[in-house]
Amino acid sequence: MCPGHVCNSAEHFDRYGEPVTTLQVHDVTHRYGQRGRTVTALDRVSLDVDAGELTAVLGPSGSGKSTLLSIAGGLLHPTEGTVTVAGTPLNELRRSQLQELRARQIGFVFQTHNLVPYLTVRENLEVIGVLLAGNRGPTTVRDRSLELLGELGLADRLGHLPAHLSAGESQRVAIARALLNEPYVLLVDEPTASLDTTLGAEVVKLLVDQAHDRGVAVVVVTHDHAMADLADRRVHLRDGRVIRSDPRPDPPDGGNER
Ligand SMILES: Nc1ncnc2c1ncn2[C@@H]1O[C@H](COP(=O)(O)OP(=O)(O)OP(=O)(O)O)[C@@H](O)[C@H]1O
Ligand SMILES: [Mg+2]
Repeated sequence: MCPGHVCNSAEHFDRYGEPVTTLQVHDVTHRYGQRGRTVTALDRVSLDVDAGELTAVLGPSGSGKSTLLSIAGGLLHPTEGTVTVAGTPLNELRRSQLQELRARQIGFVFQTHNLVPYLTVRENLEVIGVLLAGNRGPTTVRDRSLELLGELGLADRLGHLPAHLSAGESQRVAIARALLNEPYVLLVDEPTASLDTTLGAEVVKLLVDQAHDRGVAVVVVTHDHAMADLADRRVHLRDGRVIRSDPRPDPPDGGNER
């Protein structure tokens, strides 16, 4: 059972001991107010993502993809509807509890990577890591940073500043940083937008591996069909509505072991 926002179990259960979906977006509507004009960015959107599952969100510009990610990650309160992360309804949390849940259970990778320009690759992870470490010591943070950066092919870039990295490398540093706190939910906005096809495919593969191998619930906004084809589920948005949600077709041998 997950007692409130401090759930640290890999599996999540509700108050009756039943397993719960890691990320549940339920019937969410969001309206932005703009100089007396209201824009309905999301209209009764629902989305469930299990641990170990990668969902791709597709849709034209302005269809509500980034708004959906911000709401799923507790950065934006929906006008209506609820979001539950690992069994905890976000609307029931006080501000400080929500901040703690975001820091410990959710990883974000934004369209712009937001790396700190005057810190090296390694420091970009370690500084954030120590801030979030809680009862895990700085040594654990250092070890985990090095492990992740190595896993993401950045072992020889540790001392580089962000300005001296390629777009693909910066993207991977941002992904490593988002994974540092071992989140249950990883939310990624357009990871392949600034990458060529080969690098884009590498980033996609990496995200799929994170979902499947580490049991993270991953949501990726993308225009990239190669990524969408690898996703366990594809959700299509248009004008703030889910117009289609399809699972990935089973491979011919029926094997999709996880
Ligand atoms: N802060 C805001 N204030 C007012 N309207 C907004 C705000 N942010 C987004 N919108 C509007 O909400 C709608 C959805 O925007 P959103 O950024 O979620 O779309 P998107 O699908 O991510 O688009 P893109 O592919 O261009 O990134 C759009 O009509 C947009 O103009
Ligand atoms: Mg967007």
